[in-house]
Amino acid sequence: MTGTAFDMARVLAEGAQRLADGRLVAFPTETVYGLGADAENPTAVAAIYAAKGRPSNHPVIVHIAPEADLSYWAASVPPEARALIQAFWPGPLTLILPRAAHIPAAVSGGQSSVGLRCPSHPVAQALLREFAQRKPSGQGGVAAPSANKFGQVSPTHARHVREEFAELGEDELLVLEGGPSQVGIESTIIDVSRLAQGIGPVLLRPGHITAMQLADVLGMELGRPDAAAPRVSGSLKAHYAPRTPLSIVTRAELEGLFKGLAGKSDGIAGQEHVNASKHKPLNHGAAGRRAVALVFEPPPEQKTRSLHVGEAIIAAAQHLDWRICSSDPSVYARDLYALLRELDGLGYTHIYLEAPPRNEAWRAVNDRIGRAAAAFA
Ligand code: TXA
Ligand code: MG
Repeated sequence: MTGTAFDMARVLAEGAQRLADGRLVAFPTETVYGLGADAENPTAVAAIYAAKGRPSNHPVIVHIAPEADLSYWAASVPPEARALIQAFWPGPLTLILPRAAHIPAAVSGGQSSVGLRCPSHPVAQALLREFAQRKPSGQGGVAAPSANKFGQVSPTHARHVREEFAELGEDELLVLEGGPSQVGIESTIIDVSRLAQGIGPVLLRPGHITAMQLADVLGMELGRPDAAAPRVSGSLKAHYAPRTPLSIVTRAELEGLFKGLAGKSDGIAGQEHVNASKHKPLNHGAAGRRAVALVFEPPPEQKTRSLHVGEAIIAAAQHLDWRICSSDPSVYARDLYALLRELDGLGYTHIYLEAPPRNEAWRAVNDRIGRAAAAFA
């Protein structure tokens, strides 16, 4: 028997106990999967850095259950932070607050702040509760960056985590299963740690919860990060990158690309591909010499006809595949990382992304794909 409530309870208990023992546990959240360790155990936090290959001066987010006592983690919680928590927790929002003195500096890369997030995913919440119960203080925080190697695409499925840390056995890393992450990109991060000094609130990382939504609740505009703002590794110019070279192209560039590449043979290989994980490309395994384009609309010559079986064979000789992506930014974000991982696995020579609109709704997606492209610029 698998997948029963009993199994789930057993796995959660095992995960919570491992955390209490200073070991690593990967767990699902609504944004991406996290690689977790006891936030109050500097040795366990160091193990996260080692597994990720991440510089140890980068801070990690501390995840807490909905009923956690904020004053245990933060030295002070300004009313602005309380308003944001009221509006958006549990959910994909991380608040940077002044760190309580007894919380190890290891979680903030030595900075005086702490990043706190209360995830909405039920498996994450259950794990956090079980873990807190095992602490003498009754307060438990799980330090967790995204469960990927430093600079790589964040995982949105449990299998991504297992692939990413294939070198770690079940004994070294327990991966909790929680289905596909529904938000698909990392949480919005807002710095409210320096309000007492008259600075902020500052948006450090855009996400599913937009700057506009935050500003609405706060009743004020957000500031841009200044030189003294808390450091955020996701703000490195090149980050979140697949292995396959990736670039962002305009519609006009794309059409040129289709014409140019198509000119080399009879046409363009096409694949209607809205839900990336459900379908295998027609020419699976033969992508070695071809590039792939992620487009909002099919190339003009493809619009009036649908692909039939014969074309799948012709497609093997083509140089550019294409896939349709969602024009809804939330759906695009949800599927993005899984799609990039899938395309990586198919061995394409290059990934072209049709540039999304440059507006507030697309800001977080533009941020992530911009950093992915910057890794190859
Ligand atoms: O959605 C998410 O935030 C996911 C899930 C697992 O919760 N986590 C995540 O973690 O994206 P990570 O480490 O990949 O990115 C966390 C970001 C980093 O850019 C880090 O620098 C920033 O949060 N951060 C954490 N604590 C901070 C602090 N005290 N001051 C400034 N930045 C902080
Ligand atoms: Mg990350």
